[in-house]
Amino acid sequence: MPKIIYNDFSGKQKKIEVPKGLSVMEGAVRNNISGIDADCGGSMACATCHVYVKEEWLDKLKKIENGEQDMIDMAYEPKKNSRLSCQLIVSEELDGLEVTTPLKQS
Ligand code: FES
Repeated sequence: MPKIIYNDFSGKQKKIEVPKGLSVMEGAVRNNISGIDADCGGSMACATCHVYVKEEWLDKLKKIENGEQDMIDMAYEPKKNSRLSCQLIVSEELDGLEVTTPLKQS
């Protein structure tokens, strides 16, 4: 099963096995990862699942869509490696994906 690495803003790290087909957000919520609230349940309407993706993984992710970018623009401190974790679907190719939660969510 692919492992996703979740870091929080203070540097605490958790490696979690997340079943393929779930989103990175769902893996976080199921495992009580702090900083990913996912208020809208994954419908790209809240940005409380905002994460920073470790740079080396950016090219391996599906392209960001306009709707996702619009929500990221409203998130707390968006950066060029920002993504909505509800839009990142776990697969073997993403084994080892590393994300960091922002200091706070919007
Ligand atoms: S869970 Fe709401 S935008 Fe991702």
